Amino acid sequence: MADKATLTIDGQSIEFPVITGSENERAINIKTLRGASGGVTTIDPGYKNTGSCESAITFLDGEKGILRYRGYAIEDLAEKADFLEVAYSLIFGELPTADQLEKFHADIKAESHVDEDMKKILDGFPKSAHPMGVLSALTSALIAFNPNTVNVDSEEEMYSAIVKLLAKFPVLAAWAMRKKKSQPLDYGDNSLGYVENLHKMMFAKPNEEYKVDRAVIDALDKLLILHADHEQNCSTSTVRIVGSSHAGLFASISAGISALWGPLHGGANQAVIEMLEAIKEDGGDTKKYMAKAKDKADPFRLMGFGHRVYKNFDPRARIIKVAADDVLGQLGIEDPVLEIAKGLEKEALSDPYFVDRKLYPNVDFYSGIIYRALGIPVEMFTVMFALGRLPGWIAQWKEMRERKEPIGRPRQIYIGENLRDFKAVSDR
Ligand code: SDX
Repeated sequence: MADKATLTIDGQSIEFPVITGSENERAINIKTLRGASGGVTTIDPGYKNTGSCESAITFLDGEKGILRYRGYAIEDLAEKADFLEVAYSLIFGELPTADQLEKFHADIKAESHVDEDMKKILDGFPKSAHPMGVLSALTSALIAFNPNTVNVDSEEEMYSAIVKLLAKFPVLAAWAMRKKKSQPLDYGDNSLGYVENLHKMMFAKPNEEYKVDRAVIDALDKLLILHADHEQNCSTSTVRIVGSSHAGLFASISAGISALWGPLHGGANQAVIEMLEAIKEDGGDTKKYMAKAKDKADPFRLMGFGHRVYKNFDPRARIIKVAADDVLGQLGIEDPVLEIAKGLEKEALSDPYFVDRKLYPNVDFYSGIIYRALGIPVEMFTVMFALGRLPGWIAQWKEMRERKEPIGRPRQIYIGENLRDFKAVSDR
């Protein structure tokens, strides 16, 4: 296959190198374009055809429905690994040995305290505040209590910032939920596993001993693994571009949380349940909502369907759909919206509108059904996504900084007014 591409413009032919990745993806490296062409650039709204970086963290093939973290198939990781192992492998490149994992967890536990003054910031929010807004603010506030911005050339400082974030983020997420439920904040228990401790901080009752429910923890662990990274999605690209200005890790992650909040991205898991509930309230009339999703005059979209990259089944959706049946069965829960979701999926997968546009269920379509079965409030669904995505964001930020990527600063094509004379207000 060619290792060069030629662009001809204004009678001038310009050659560009074609780079090939380890999974044979190819890209035209156009970094000399503007100089060689006398100022011509490219434009690609939403970056549908534009790569921002080379990365060794996650590989996905949207046509084949393949997803791998550090070369490991998502199906293997979801079934055989636990979330902390996956977090370690995303951040440091290899699955940890037993000793490495034990030290990693011990280092995280040593940092799991959150400064008491952070509570004053949390107290300032109304109960009505959305937990994603609270979490973004508290994550940014962590900087004030951990002022050393990361000297990325110091492996020790980078490691310290990473374990601090992995330790404190779950505390802040659990606090955001307990604030909303007017429950006393919980500090966790370092004798528990990472995901067990998260669940304890979210759900422990102040007047009862916390008991680990294996089925619940295993379901939560699997969901966190499935959300852990997804190459250059909207929120990860946000984390990278904020970090490219050499803003600190906490500030970059805070920005990523805000990007994830959007209903077209991580906020979709909340929007899916709200949509399924609306269909249930509407007598389960899925055909009406399918028609709305296809009506260009109607802004309604079938939430949890479609994906920028997957033009086949999102492999995570396949795993979550099976897990939803398992978890509801183990917990003895009948959830009518699960049947509505399956009915909607069946209809969409045989409807030309969705088939022609290759719109399949994505990671958000079924995840909310499990979160709900675990007793997680719907406004916390996207926070659960953020908890899963945290190691991926960290890994991508670390890779971007260690590779000394340049500050992100896209070009534009100006379409505004040409030069005109200023007019005094009396003449306007
Ligand atoms: C996540 O990028 C990632 O990796 C994200 C993520 C991750 O792990 O980080 O996977 C997580 O964000 C999953 C996506 C969650 N969002 C939703 O479920 C919201 C509903 N989905 C859509 O809004 C949409 O599918 C996107 C945003 C996910 C993708 O949008 P694209 O790639 O920009 O596609 P598009 O808007 O150009 O749509 C192409 C066509 C359009 O119709 P036409 O103009 O060709 O006639 O498909 C239509 C769209 O109108 N379409 C839908 C639809 N999604 C796309 N029509 C109805 N319902 C939908 N859900």
